[in-house]
Amino acid sequence: MKVQHYKATDQNPNLNDYDKVYENFNWDEIEKNFSWSETNKFNMAYECIDKHVEDGYGDKTAFIYKNDDEKSTYTFKDMQIASNKAANVLKNEAGVEKGDRVFIFMARSPELYFSLLGTLKLGAIVGPLFEAFMEKAVKDRMENSDAKVIITTPELVGRIPVDDLPNLEKVVVVGETDNNDQVDFNAAFDKASEDFDIEWLDKEDGMILHYTSGSTGQPKGVLHVQYAMVQQYITGKYVLDLKEDDVYWCTADPGWVTGTSYGIFAPWLNRATNVVVGGRFSPESWYGAIDELNITIWYSAPTALRMLMGAGDEVLKQYDLSSLRHILSVGEPLNPEVVKWGMDVFNLRIHDTWWMTETGAHMITNFPAMDIKAGSMGKPVPGVEAAIIDDSGNELPANRMGNLALKSGWPAMMREVWKNKPKYDSYFVGEWYVSGDSAYKDEDGYYWFQGRVDDVIMTAGERVGPFEIESKLVEHPAVQEAGVIGKPDPVRGEIVKAFIALREEYDESGELKEEIRVFVKEGLAAHAAPREIEFKDKLPKTRSGKIMRRVLKAWELNLDAGDLSSMDDD
Ligand code: WT7
Repeated sequence: MKVQHYKATDQNPNLNDYDKVYENFNWDEIEKNFSWSETNKFNMAYECIDKHVEDGYGDKTAFIYKNDDEKSTYTFKDMQIASNKAANVLKNEAGVEKGDRVFIFMARSPELYFSLLGTLKLGAIVGPLFEAFMEKAVKDRMENSDAKVIITTPELVGRIPVDDLPNLEKVVVVGETDNNDQVDFNAAFDKASEDFDIEWLDKEDGMILHYTSGSTGQPKGVLHVQYAMVQQYITGKYVLDLKEDDVYWCTADPGWVTGTSYGIFAPWLNRATNVVVGGRFSPESWYGAIDELNITIWYSAPTALRMLMGAGDEVLKQYDLSSLRHILSVGEPLNPEVVKWGMDVFNLRIHDTWWMTETGAHMITNFPAMDIKAGSMGKPVPGVEAAIIDDSGNELPANRMGNLALKSGWPAMMREVWKNKPKYDSYFVGEWYVSGDSAYKDEDGYYWFQGRVDDVIMTAGERVGPFEIESKLVEHPAVQEAGVIGKPDPVRGEIVKAFIALREEYDESGELKEEIRVFVKEGLAAHAAPREIEFKDKLPKTRSGKIMRRVLKAWELNLDAGDLSSMDDD
């Protein structure tokens, strides 16, 4: 198939000469943009907000929150005050101290952002939780990290299993609460002082803990430290192309890493106006937000872009989207058709970016000033060394498919898998961090994504671990055993498909499928619920009893299942 090339525009001088910038790049130089390079006093929230107020930008718009007809706008000064108040609430009412794990479990709202910044100002570690999580998902994550405080809303508070979490000291509720054990955030916020002494931290102190799924085991807590900000700042400048006058919109929820690294940190480190749109996706509300707020930079995901593409031109024509000047995508492969659609309807290129929860920031991207080969993820960002390696860590030549790997040591790299050193260590082969993705690099140094090496499922840009879903499925009384795979889907990338062997007393039926689906949806999370269920008499297993998802996938795709020597076929 012929690869479509899209020429760079010269709108952006950053990285115009990629090779030269890449070669001369040095993190020490980037550090000089921060006063901590001299004082050694770190605090992410300070760098995002207070610093800009001190530099005379207090009146500049920092944050626009929009949800249906509601819209609120905050300057950097407003954000400084609101985050100070939130910090005081958490300190005085919930006893939060440096290093504590504080979870935030709520739908996007201004208070989510105030309290996240407030938590950081206290030097505590933030654990964002996606609002769709149900009780078990919430419990596993909070239990693993011994969370001390959780901030939530009246709609979600019932999903926090307080009795099963002995280390949880306070539940802070943003909204009505008549429970005297809980902190009424709004009441305390109204009374809180506007001043707060920021807790200064060290470069390597923990900052944020994102739980993410692997193919085996419980979700793992990926810890990022203060120093990550160097890379989040510079990729914000080079890749997102953030400039001071930009109105930037990242569509991701802070429950996922894109929604923090690039929905909070990168834009505010670069002093841009950051837009958050609450509520559900619809073509009308998304195009409407761009039109109404005059968004200039838009960072989204292939699934959403494919849905917009599918919604057609009629809806598109009702909006003026001419404010847009730069579009990016992340999370799954960006199909060449989508890039082409972007050229047709916006007359702009859509820039694919590749990275992971564990990498904390962009790794391989298409820069504004670089020619795009549609379907390629682009090239490594300056300061990052990537390679395609074999399973022993040897670098492979151009055009050979292998493991996409990164040379350890970039600033935003995870520092720990919470309480799981073996898991952390398992990512590395020598000096290489092995991503779990397979890819190849072409003769021009562009990287091409090929797939996951493991069984991790990417559905609608969200990463779900088959193990977590399988564990939930077997809790259902009818389920004897379950194997879960990602099935390719034109809109969602993949959908969750479960193969289930029923206990003898149960009969296959459509109602039972639906009941099982709802069981996962209500017990774990809506996005983890299998969209398809297929009953089987028996699932393929290894002799040690491990379900062979690879065989399930081969069944699904009508492929040869490969080497079955480890399969138990009696
Ligand atoms: C996995 C990481 C931090 C980004 C959001 C997802 C897949 C990510 C791309 C891309 C193809 C991509 C990979 C990766 N992925 N970006 N541009 N093209 N695949 O973060 O939940 O940690 O998932 O998402 O498979 O390993 P995540």
